[in-house]
Amino acid sequence: MDNVINFGGMTALITGASSGIGAASATAFGTRGARVLIHYNRQESEAQRILERVRGAGGQGELLRADLTTMDGVRSLVRALAGRRIDILVNNAGSLIQRTPVLNFTEELWEQVLTLNLTSAFFLAKAVLAGMVERKSGFVVNVSSVAARNGGGLGALAYASAKGALSTMTMGLAKEFAPFGIRVNAVSPGTIDTKYHRNFSNDQILNAVKAATPMARLGTAEEVADVILFLCSHEARFIQGQVIEVNGGFS
Ligand SMILES: NC(=O)c1ccc[n+]([C@@H]2O[C@H](COP(=O)([O-])OP(=O)(O)OC[C@H]3O[C@@H](n4cnc5c(N)ncnc54)[C@H](OP(=O)(O)O)[C@@H]3O)[C@@H](O)[C@H]2O)c1
Repeated sequence: MDNVINFGGMTALITGASSGIGAASATAFGTRGARVLIHYNRQESEAQRILERVRGAGGQGELLRADLTTMDGVRSLVRALAGRRIDILVNNAGSLIQRTPVLNFTEELWEQVLTLNLTSAFFLAKAVLAGMVERKSGFVVNVSSVAARNGGGLGALAYASAKGALSTMTMGLAKEFAPFGIRVNAVSPGTIDTKYHRNFSNDQILNAVKAATPMARLGTAEEVADVILFLCSHEARFIQGQVIEVNGGFS
């Protein structure tokens, strides 16, 4: 994406910005004028690297840490936002945590997957929407998944269920907050070449995806970030409540 789109004067919170799609989004917002709040959990040095990249390009930002698999972690991030103006929220943090067959699922793992991929997104949106309503402007972009539409790969049922609900939540929030000048949308990545797949996939799975993708390759984090930025831009001003598939034609 070229430099036509600029977010000067805005603050963007990107969850899960230490890696992959979140890191690419934070870099893209931060180098186009936004002050970026770079959330991470485990990868502090990677998050710091993204912040340095933004600062190196003349941008501003800071780091926020929270484990979003627990409500304590979600509440701590919500508390850290108190009194701050957030213009853009990208609910990107997510993971299937571990591939687990349904019959081996524990209550604890179900809770963790749902809290990370769905509940945290709701409470972070709730935390920033009040200020957006007062200002009559703001953007929320949720990062869903192709798993929301196809049930997910084996061992990813809780993750796919959470992403399905996240897509639905996107449409509901969009209706409720459109009258306040707030736009809420989602991106739904297909298979994107990030650490996610180094953790949860193998060559066999990735080759099968490529074979089933008309564009015959995996996506890049930057290609998803570009769509997230577009959704927060003036150019996308009549797009509301949509879940945009970014998957090279895979369906
Ligand atoms: N890659 C794909 O093919 C694909 C496809 C569909 C949807 N998605 C979605 O895209 C989003 C980004 O994924 P990615 O591919 O960029 O993956 P990634 O490179 O593994 O990055 C995941 C990010 O989420 C954060 N995160 C993970 N567990 C967390 C926790 N317990 N608490 C707080 N943050 C946590 C990570 O932070 P730390 O590393 O600092 O802990 C990291 O910044 C996710 O929501 C994922 O479900 C990805």
